Amino acid sequence: MGKPVIEVRNLYKRFGERVVLKGINLAIYEGEIFVIIGGSGSGKSTLLKHLIGLLKPTEGCVCIFGRDITKLSEEELDEIRLKMGYVFQEGALFDFLTVWENVGFYYLEHTALPKEEVRKKAVEILKKVDLDESVADLYPSQLSGGMKKRVSTARAIAGEGRIILYDEPTSGLDPITSRNIDHLILSLRERVGATSVVVTHDMISALSIADRIAFIYKGELLQVGTPEEIVNSPNPIVREFVEKGLYGVKR
Ligand SMILES: Nc1ncnc2c1ncn2[C@@H]1O[C@H](COP(=O)(O)OP(=O)(O)O)[C@@H](O)[C@H]1O
Ligand SMILES: [Mg+2]
Repeated sequence: MGKPVIEVRNLYKRFGERVVLKGINLAIYEGEIFVIIGGSGSGKSTLLKHLIGLLKPTEGCVCIFGRDITKLSEEELDEIRLKMGYVFQEGALFDFLTVWENVGFYYLEHTALPKEEVRKKAVEILKKVDLDESVADLYPSQLSGGMKKRVSTARAIAGEGRIILYDEPTSGLDPITSRNIDHLILSLRERVGATSVVVTHDMISALSIADRIAFIYKGELLQVGTPEEIVNSPNPIVREFVEKGLYGVKR
């Protein structure tokens, strides 16, 4: 499998008195689609934020491309972040920029491409998330929640990052758009060999895209395995979560 592109060792995170992550260990390999599932409040977003250095661990370390990022300065982190894309759960966009400027942000900031070219690129990327050119010149405040989410996804993949982190990319989207986002994640691996870490509530999405799935419960990884291993989990907590996700009810 080669070297992991992401490695988390003995990660603990405390907010005040509350221990939110309790000794997380994982290794994610190049080109892998690694899905994190678990109930709300279990620590998924907190874990994802550690992978891009938005949060510093209370204890433990996070290596990206073999480099411990927990001790880096903001400038050094920015250099690594250029190789990563991140879809925030809240779909955070720059309110003062148009949709195409948000999507093309990487090119506007880090390349000398003329604005017209960047806009063209942005429109192409927007198509991949089922948005057409008519939204390109709108501002985020003029978009619905689902559209913001898709623009945020477009921005994350626009930078041609080697690692893309998605925090609930399909929540609030209709089933057809959700499946298109799934295809997008798969096609990024095919086209550019991108490594994806996807936090989701969506069991159908998890089972159809994941190479491996990690189940997090109250800040601990209860199981990491293939979709098949997760579906056939011996752990009753994992099984219940999977069955609820697939059939809507506990059987
Ligand atoms: N900045 C913070 N300060 C205090 N508590 C936080 C903070 N961020 C998250 N938490 C708490 O950590 C727990 C896990 O949150 P989160 O990682 O967002 O869960 P998930 O994404 O799985 O729903 C929650 O109980 C949440 O209230
Ligand atoms: Mg979350």
